[in-house]
Amino acid sequence: MTEPDAFVPATLEDVRADVFARLARAVKDRRSALHTPVIATRGLDGHMKARVVVLRAFDPEAVTLRFHTDLRSKKIAELEADPQIAFAFYDHQARVQIRAEATARIHSDDAVEEAAWTASLQMSRVCYGVIPGPGTPLDDADDFNLPDDDTAIAAGRAFFSAVLCRIEALEYLFLRHAGHRRARFTRTAEGWSGQWLTP
Ligand SMILES: Cc1cc2nc3c(=O)[nH]c(=O)nc-3n(C[C@H](O)[C@H](O)[C@H](O)COP(=O)(O)O)c2cc1C
Repeated sequence: MTEPDAFVPATLEDVRADVFARLARAVKDRRSALHTPVIATRGLDGHMKARVVVLRAFDPEAVTLRFHTDLRSKKIAELEADPQIAFAFYDHQARVQIRAEATARIHSDDAVEEAAWTASLQMSRVCYGVIPGPGTPLDDADDFNLPDDDTAIAAGRAFFSAVLCRIEALEYLFLRHAGHRRARFTRTAEGWSGQWLTP
């Protein structure tokens, strides 16, 4: 079987740089599998909750990941109660899994929110004007309304939030016939501390 990804990071620093590069590319490439990670939060009922979101930004300096969500969604109440969040990414073609453990901060009325809303496309903004809010029980599947004019779409901004997640630890797993590779990185005062692990 062919190895779809010829680049095999040799050192821990190569791996870290590769992970950062993949996350940066994932933001821009809407067709990348890494563009839509799964995020997990602790539910208010104690069960872990996992769902897909769109990766909107990766900041390699602050080492944060950003996604957007509706303030009325369950995940917001969950993150307010417990800001710990986990991300799982898998690029099927490259056979690379990236996991991130992070702490989330919700931005709903500040410069981070402003910049995120301004950069959002109209087709994305529409979702935030849905009535009733996401997760509301409905008698009928069609018993909800999306805004249909600019004023109604603008009103949805009240529910828009950008969630910035500060990465505390990263894990990399590369599946390959010649031998899988796995490494874990943790944030320290000096930078990133890496460790090879048995895959
Ligand atoms: C491809 C895809 C992308 C999605 N992107 C987002 C997103 O960026 N933000 C979001 O809040 N929900 C997004 N969703 C919907 C979530 O997976 C989830 O169903 C919704 O946010 C409700 O989650 P919650 O009730 O746990 O808060 C996306 C779903 C899919 C399938």
